Amino acid sequence: MRLNWLNPPDATPAPTLNDLLAVGVHYERLEVGSTGAQASLDALKSARGYIVQDEVQLTPTTENLEQICDKFKEEHLHTEDEVRFVLDGDGVFEIRAADERWLRVFVESGDLLVVPANLYHRFFLTDRKHIHCARLFKDPAGWVAHYRDVPACV
Ligand SMILES: [Fe+2]
Repeated sequence: MRLNWLNPPDATPAPTLNDLLAVGVHYERLEVGSTGAQASLDALKSARGYIVQDEVQLTPTTENLEQICDKFKEEHLHTEDEVRFVLDGDGVFEIRAADERWLRVFVESGDLLVVPANLYHRFFLTDRKHIHCARLFKDPAGWVAHYRDVPACV
């Protein structure tokens, strides 16, 4: 995981995990495929009430990849936490910090990120256009993007 402010990317002081914590983002580094990683996910489920675990994968050959990515690239929030454990590939979350600056979070294999409910953020693939994540949900039916400044849509 790497952090930087978006504008400018070299703004000092550089962001730290404390800046993520300040907006309620939870981060852990886990070893992909280990029993410890699943144990950590199970602990998170118990602690926070997530009941569903699934996986999602995007690759350059994913059908409608562009349209899928378009849904995530605009600033939005969810009324549920967005929990992603990166199994392979990479991606970029941009999180609205308390002062409205964008906090850019580059995630890769082994990174577990929990974007809390009601926190504005957006997500992009990198040029590799590949990410494979485990996801945890309380209610997948309720996981809807609410875009900033426009009416909510699925
Ligand atoms: Fe999201």
